[in-house]
Parts: sequence; structure tokens; C-alpha cells
Amino acid sequence: MAEKGVKIAPAEGRLGVLLVGLGAVSTTFVAGVEAIKRGLALPVGSLTQMGTVRLGKRTDGRSPKIKDFVPIAELNDIVFGAWDIFPDNAFDAAMKAGVLDKDLLNQVSEQLASLKPMPAVFEQNYVKRLHGDNVKTGKNKMELAEQLIEDIARFKSENECSRLAMVWAASTEIYLEETEAHKSLDAFEKALYDNDPSVAPSMIYAYAALKSGVPFANGAPNLTVDIPALTKLADQQKVPICGKDLKTGQTFMKTILAPGLKSRLLGLHGWYSTNILGNRDGEVLDDPENFKTKEESKLSVLEHILQPEVYPDLYDGFSHVVRINYYPPRGDNKEGWDNIDIFGWLGYPMQIKIDFLCRDSILAAPLCLDLALFMDLAQRAGMKGIQEWLSFYFKSPQTAPGLYPEHDIFIQLMKLKNTLRHLRGEDLITHLGLEYYD
Ligand SMILES: NC(=O)c1ccc[n+]([C@@H]2O[C@H](COP(=O)([O-])OP(=O)(O)OC[C@H]3O[C@@H](n4cnc5c(N)ncnc54)[C@H](O)[C@@H]3O)[C@@H](O)[C@H]2O)c1
Repeated sequence: MAEKGVKIAPAEGRLGVLLVGLGAVSTTFVAGVEAIKRGLALPVGSLTQMGTVRLGKRTDGRSPKIKDFVPIAELNDIVFGAWDIFPDNAFDAAMKAGVLDKDLLNQVSEQLASLKPMPAVFEQNYVKRLHGDNVKTGKNKMELAEQLIEDIARFKSENECSRLAMVWAASTEIYLEETEAHKSLDAFEKALYDNDPSVAPSMIYAYAALKSGVPFANGAPNLTVDIPALTKLADQQKVPICGKDLKTGQTFMKTILAPGLKSRLLGLHGWYSTNILGNRDGEVLDDPENFKTKEESKLSVLEHILQPEVYPDLYDGFSHVVRINYYPPRGDNKEGWDNIDIFGWLGYPMQIKIDFLCRDSILAAPLCLDLALFMDLAQRAGMKGIQEWLSFYFKSPQTAPGLYPEHDIFIQLMKLKNTLRHLRGEDLITHLGLEYYD
């Protein structure tokens, strides 16, 4: 029982959730939390709020809510902060994003209007399509990092927070590969002073968070905290990190379906995925350099789940295509189509079609909430560095070097719940179940 588990500091005092980017996802998250706090809506889609965890044997009848099983911060104790390149407060930004009904937003307008973004660290080169002027200036990237560190400290003291967590919910940056500047903390810090282009703004936020002892979750596919310099810094500072790219819409569907096809040993000739999306994220991703970052993240999933090297007869050389088309009339209401060409017994071909009329930010907001709360829990439980147990939330989970990521959503959920059981000293569940037949 709990005495056997890990010592977890209580969730006392206020938790400051710092959002990088105050766009569709962030405002839907903040407005949602405010609406839920007032009993106007339910936290649908959030594991920390609605999920349960089975303990002991199936016959024991013990399935507490996760939030009653592990000490998670209360929604009433959350206070939000944000940075954005546009000066709009969260109410105006939410109105522009057009995800939530005006009626609902009006009911939480006071809280939203009081959330005003701090000036951002931004450079046009990394997000080609955006132009905003709520940005910091400094003679080099280290100076910008220092300004963020000051923002973090000021926010914490002004809002009387006992703990903080940072979530990157800003635009997807251009595709970057690991360079020498990313390999060690010394090289990284030198690169900050030298204004090295391989240090993207998202890395500056991550560096500032880690230096301030603040957990950092990356909701976008940018490299950001997935470089040796920053994973080492996270270890050194004893701060949890996780990423990358929230697993919502189409990739969420893929990681549900692909493990099922593989479990029945059905083969795959090809998987064609296309989307229409009309929000600002869609506009940013309309630029080929920004789309490349997203594409890499989306493409990796099937290879890892299907393991063509283990099942060459079923999965060798399948075709996998992913497209995102910017189509303004749809706003945040993305439509994702998948055409899946599979084959069965004796090689006979079959097709599956999916048409997912989803709402991007409605799917993403509860993941941001869970990540902020679980990262805070992890820190209070003394967990540091990469939090692989939070792979459940990501398209491209960060893992230790040399370890391939686990993409199967059901394995990811099992891993997450077993981590919670481990923290509380409960038996891990293997699903062996032979004891019921002894
Ligand atoms: N909604 C989903 O289902 C989903 C899933 C996975 C990933 N994501 C990612 O989450 C991110 C946010 O998505 P969104 O729909 O809210 O986009 P959005 O365009 O509505 O919001 C992003 C905000 O970030 C701001 N921004 C850009 N660069 C910044 C910087 N350097 N510092 C501070 N602010 C900055 C922009 O001005 C904008 O307001 C995107 O990267 C998106 O790819 C979303």
C-alpha cells in the first residue's frame, strides 16, 4: 500500500500553469478549466479528472478515480500565465480562435480577460507565416532566456504559486535537426550567446523553464527539449520533461487502429491520410518548412507500431502519406480522412475508410490539463528528466537515447497507470490473470 510507494510531496498551495502560446489550444484549455470549476461543463477527455485506475484483483472491486489515488493539484488551485506574440488577452484570443461558443466564453470572460500574454521570445525565421509585435528584444539569445527566467520568477511571486509547470502550445516551428550546439549544455549556452540559428525560440523557453526548476511539456513537434543539452539540464536540475506533439485527431485514430490490425496479423499495403484545417495552426503548417516538422512526427507512428522488420510479409514497404491542407472555412473543425489498404487471409485486399470530423482544440485541451497536472505530480514525486510514462499524450514520444518509442495507445495507457500504481506502492497489473483459475 501507500507506505511501500514513493514519497510524494502534497499538492499544497497554488500551481501556476505557464502556457507558451495563447492560441486555440491554450484558450480552449483555460476557458474549459474555468467553466469546469463553475460546474458549467464536464472535463470530458481528461484522465486526471475522469479516469480511474484498477487496483488489485478484478474481484477486489477497487477502482478509485486517479485524482483520488494520487495527490493531484485541484483545479481551483491552478492559476494561468502565458506568452504570445499577439497582445490579445485570453478572452479576445478565444473569440478569434472561434472554438468555443460565445455564450460559454461570456460566462468566464472575467477570468479570461485578466490573462494577458507576456511578450514572447520569437523569431520570424522559425514560424514563417506569423507576424506579431508583442515580442522581447535582447542583444543575444541568452539575454532573452534571462528575461524569460525573470518573467517566471515574477509570475510565481505575484501569483503566490508554490509550484509551476510550463506547456508549449505555441505554433509549430520549422524543422530542425540536432547539431553540435545541441549536444552538451556548454555548447548550448555558448550558442545562446552567439545567437546560433540552431537554437529555436522554443529551446530558449525550455532552457528558461529548466533553469527555473519548472517542468516542461512540449505539445508541438518541434525538437525543443528533445536534445541532449536540455535532457541533461533536466536531469541536473531534477526537473521532469516530456514531449512531443499532442496525439489528437488522426494520429490518435492511427494508434488505436494500427495495433488492432497488427494484433490480428492483417497486412498493410498503404495508409493515406489527408486533412483540411482552417485555424491559425493550419495556416502555419501551410508553410513547407513548418509542415516538415509535423510530417516527421506523424509519419513515425506506423513504422514503430507495425514493426516491418519483425513482420516483413505483412508490413514491408507499405506506403504512408500524410497531408494537411489549409482550408479557412473549417476553422478549428478539422476533417481528417484516412484510406487504409489492408490485406487478409491468402493476401485478399480490403479497405477501411475513416472520416473523422473532429475539433482539434477540443481534443487537445484536456491533454494540456493532464500534462500540467501529471508533470507537477512527477516533480513532487522526485521524478526527473524524460517522463516516458506520459507517452500516452504524444505523437512522437520522447525516450531515453537508443530506446524506440512506444506508440500503441493501449500499451501507453497501461504504462501510465502502472506508473501511478508504482508511485503508490500498489501491485502492477500484468493482465496475466491465471490466479482466477487456480
Ligand atoms: N490542436 C491539436 O489537436 C494539436 C495537436 C498536436 C499539436 N498541436 C500543436 O499545438 C500548437 C498550438 O496549436 P493551436 O491550434 O493553439 O495554434 P494557434 O496558432 O491557435 O496558437 C498558437 C499561438 O502561439 C503563438 N506563438 C507562436 N510562436 C510563439 C512564440 N515563440 N512564443 C509565444 N507564442 C508564440 C501564436 O501567436 C499563436 O497565438 C501548434 O504547434 C500545434 O501544431 C495541436
